[in-house]
Amino acid sequence: MVRTAGWEEVRGLVYASFEEQGVGGRPSPADGYLVYEEDGEVVACIGWRRLGWLYTEICHLYVMPSYRGRGIAKILVREAVKELPAKVFLATVVEWNTPSQRVLSHCGFQAVGKCPSPRTGRTLVVFTYVKTE
Ligand SMILES: CC(C)(COP(=O)(O)OP(=O)(O)OC[C@H]1O[C@@H](n2cnc3c(N)ncnc32)[C@H](O)[C@@H]1OP(=O)(O)O)[C@@H](O)C(=O)NCCC(=O)NCCS
Repeated sequence: MVRTAGWEEVRGLVYASFEEQGVGGRPSPADGYLVYEEDGEVVACIGWRRLGWLYTEICHLYVMPSYRGRGIAKILVREAVKELPAKVFLATVVEWNTPSQRVLSHCGFQAVGKCPSPRTGRTLVVFTYVKTE
């Protein structure tokens, strides 16, 4: 089941994600979240940040390790794109993160370029998706 949630419900998952990816610093809450719930437990999340009326950044995508490879991340990305009012979606993924890049590609996002993260210096792949309907 997919539903909306607040920062308090996803905080643990987002911190786990930062730790797993070796991202330094403390995550700051996004504007909103969707979570995937199974048997009453929140096992995955995705966040978004509105960047004006046209653009939204997708962030804080995380699936608990024992629930991976079942398409949960793809469900969350597709649901976020469907439900949010923005027309242009952005996402960045650190270069070595193949699973995350595959998820975005499967959901119609296109890699449009690479740049160094101003914060960590690591190379980020920049993805975009344009909702035409
Ligand atoms: C990235 C992540 C969200 C994917 O979640 P998931 O629910 O397993 O994703 P899905 O099942 O929807 O799809 C996973 C895709 O990656 C592939 N994949 C899974 N593990 C992989 C691995 N170790 N190496 C390469 N590809 C892998 C799967 O085969 C699938 O692609 P396919 O459909 O072409 O076969 C999850 O691994 C995660 O939470 N990672 C840690 C946090 C993170 O990296 N978040 C993203 C930050 S941008």
